[in-house]
Amino acid sequence: MRIVLGVTGGIAAYKAAELARLLLQQGHTVQVVMTRSAREFIQPLTFAALTGRKVITELFDHSSPEATLSSSVEHIGVAQEHDLLVIAPASANTLAKLAHGLADDFLSTMYLAFRGPVVIAPAMNNVMWEHAATQANVSALRALGHILVEPADGYLACGTYGPGRLAEPAVIADAVERVTKSGSDLAGQTFLITAGPTQEPLDPVRYLSNRSSGKMGYALAEAALERGAKVILVSGPVAIRPPRGAEVISIRTAAEMLDAVMGNLERASVVIKCAAVADFKPAVESAQKIKKSQARLSLELEPTVDILATVGKNKGNRLLVGFAAETQNLREEAHRKLTVKNCDMVVANLVGGSGTGFEAENNAVVLAMQSGEFVELPKAPKIEIARQIIDVTAKIIDRRMRS
Ligand code: PMT
Repeated sequence: MRIVLGVTGGIAAYKAAELARLLLQQGHTVQVVMTRSAREFIQPLTFAALTGRKVITELFDHSSPEATLSSSVEHIGVAQEHDLLVIAPASANTLAKLAHGLADDFLSTMYLAFRGPVVIAPAMNNVMWEHAATQANVSALRALGHILVEPADGYLACGTYGPGRLAEPAVIADAVERVTKSGSDLAGQTFLITAGPTQEPLDPVRYLSNRSSGKMGYALAEAALERGAKVILVSGPVAIRPPRGAEVISIRTAAEMLDAVMGNLERASVVIKCAAVADFKPAVESAQKIKKSQARLSLELEPTVDILATVGKNKGNRLLVGFAAETQNLREEAHRKLTVKNCDMVVANLVGGSGTGFEAENNAVVLAMQSGEFVELPKAPKIEIARQIIDVTAKIIDRRMRS
């Protein structure tokens, strides 16, 4: 692959030299683009010597009138001639520019003209990383379908400890390898993925719901898209943007989700039920707002249809992946749901604690397989967990195709 390696300002810029070396070793060509701040930390000559190419540092080359003219469109040429853009380290400023489409230097301008996959490895001080503005920018970049290689925890140049350290060059190179190798191995597969909560109305202004943010399901959609699958994302009401390229069907209630899933089942080769569907709904939806006229109010609830079990009964040759949100006995419950709901795999996560499950940025799961085996995926950002789940799913598909 022809890779553009964007290097932005930060003490971790020196690690980009090792990354360039690893990418070259993987057989790619590497064109380095450095921002002005990056050049405060490392010389372009280092990258030129490693890659054998002139490093691009400016939007305009003023060495001669001809050079100025041709350089004025060079960012378009570089964008068109390359297959993959890797930005490492990506500073907070660069994340903000990319997320908002600002184009004031070669890298950000070229990024806007670039159509291929983008891998971004942020690095910065831990407080800057955790700032709501940075996190919003990261979410926006994920929503654009870019692959974020999360910074690691560790001692930072500023003397503090926390998340913000650039992921090791080998980890970033692995992410690039995944994109280049598996870019389209799921092409031809259609994943129907459910995400988010359902809302079961009580009256015109109130509903019963749960804390699902949609992050896990959206991450699964993103991971499936990364590998070339078509994705139908049936989503309850959430506050995050869907990944670019997903066909989104927005629903509100469990009954609407049932209709959307069953109505699109024919088109799907894989179904992943990550949504947190209400198990019960009010037996009666009041047409008027319920008045606060009594000291106590009892609600009569009735069960919703179990969508996963319904798909399980009608799945044909489809691969069916269920989820299990549990507060105890993770493996037993996962295995029970796998059998009872006729799934090919169940992804079980502990909920109700802190740091994983509902709303969290991270998750930790156990995969219950039909063979009776369990696969532990330790705590990691939801997108990383999603990539591993999609990877296991891809292997099952591959095995089935071979047999
Ligand atoms: O959205 P996030 O904030 O990122 O949180 C992610 C998550 C915790 C919601 C997700 O990882 C998860 O665990 N999803 C499943 C939640 C759930 O409803 O689990 P359950 O054990 O109650 O249900 C088991 C399975 O049956 C699930 O696949 C569920 O989608 C399905 N189900 C449940 C009830 C119902 N009426 N119909 C269903 O299809």
